[in-house]
Amino acid sequence: MAQVSLRNVFKTYKDGVNAVNNVNIGIENKEFLVLLGPSGCGKSTTLRMIAGLDFPTQGEIYIGDRLVNHVPAKDRDIAMVFQNYALYPHLTVYDNMAFALKLRNYSKSDIDRRVREASEILGIKNLLDRKPRQLSGGERQRVAVGRAIVRKPLVFLFDEPLSNLDAKMRVLMRTEIHKLHLRLQTTMIYVTHDQTEAMTLGDRIAVMKDGKIQQCDTPLNVYDNPASKFVAGFIGSPPMNFLNGAIIEKEKTLYFDAKEFKVRILEDMNAKLKDYVGKRVIFGIRPENIFDKLFASNATPENTVTVICDVVETMGAENHLYLSIGDHNFVAVVEAANKPAIGSGVEMVFDMRKAHFFDVNTEKSIV
Ligand SMILES: Nc1ncnc2c1ncn2[C@@H]1O[C@H](COP(=O)(O)OP(=O)(O)OP(=O)(O)O)[C@@H](O)[C@H]1O
Ligand SMILES: [Mg+2]
Repeated sequence: MAQVSLRNVFKTYKDGVNAVNNVNIGIENKEFLVLLGPSGCGKSTTLRMIAGLDFPTQGEIYIGDRLVNHVPAKDRDIAMVFQNYALYPHLTVYDNMAFALKLRNYSKSDIDRRVREASEILGIKNLLDRKPRQLSGGERQRVAVGRAIVRKPLVFLFDEPLSNLDAKMRVLMRTEIHKLHLRLQTTMIYVTHDQTEAMTLGDRIAVMKDGKIQQCDTPLNVYDNPASKFVAGFIGSPPMNFLNGAIIEKEKTLYFDAKEFKVRILEDMNAKLKDYVGKRVIFGIRPENIFDKLFASNATPENTVTVICDVVETMGAENHLYLSIGDHNFVAVVEAANKPAIGSGVEMVFDMRKAHFFDVNTEKSIV
């Protein structure tokens, strides 16, 4: 069991690319931390430095109390599962799992016990004699995880381990990895660009962009209190709506004024927004916080806007309404029974308790 900490870690490649730019994270013992971000943001580089496959240009990496900057990968007591499982094609499942243990001179009986234990955990006992080409993608994935488990490492690292699987298998394996964490109680660091995986698996999510951690917090806090417009837009599906406008004040009440419509801001946000009166801001609201007035219980003239419904997407359990007013376009997720007529005016209610405001210049959250 171990905690992992990265202190002021930089990775600059020879050509001047700042792949990782001053990253600080402390990963607790037994924690499941997800590194989430778009392609090229530095997730794999960060993970590879923890594994010892790459080395920081600056900063320190600790595993437990041990500074590991100069410790080679094989001595770090870490196991990594990669996106392309990289199984040895000529070896059986058993031998694939036993391989790293043989290299480390484990006794035959110890290897056998560990391989059988891991295959039991992963439900692949009946596959031990097969070669990788005789396995489905999901089964290969399990073997790759098995290879990591047999080593009983201090820390597991996963780099997009599910991205080669089809959608259904991804969901299945996601749950398997969740169960595995509960069972093994080992520190895990998991890289993905899939926000659903991040939300469902992580004890905490570190959202990365351009080599920097934008926010590191529990899934719910990242969802409810995103630190920036980037985080707000990256987590959630469909994503948060962003509408441009300005804060105005009328008789000591603040409003968000988008020209074509105006909504009243709740008083508990006044303190943080008062410096923005008369200035442009970005108003953020999630699709599930916008309701058709016919289905809403908290409609008032000051949170209700008449908009045009351009498209209704029927999802089965819910509908996605694509709405517009003037130049503003936004999406509402509503109940399946709620199907406004296309092209007609519909009164929509914004739940202003769930409103977010972002600074137009820094794109940081104001409230
Ligand atoms: N060996 C290298 N030499 C130069 N630049 C590199 C090298 N490896 C990675 N990079 C650059 O560093 C940045 C971060 O790469 P990294 O692989 O960490 O991204 P990532 O977040 O894992 O992306 P993805 O989701 O596509 O896997 C990218 O801009 C990439 O082009
Ligand atoms: Mg990567």
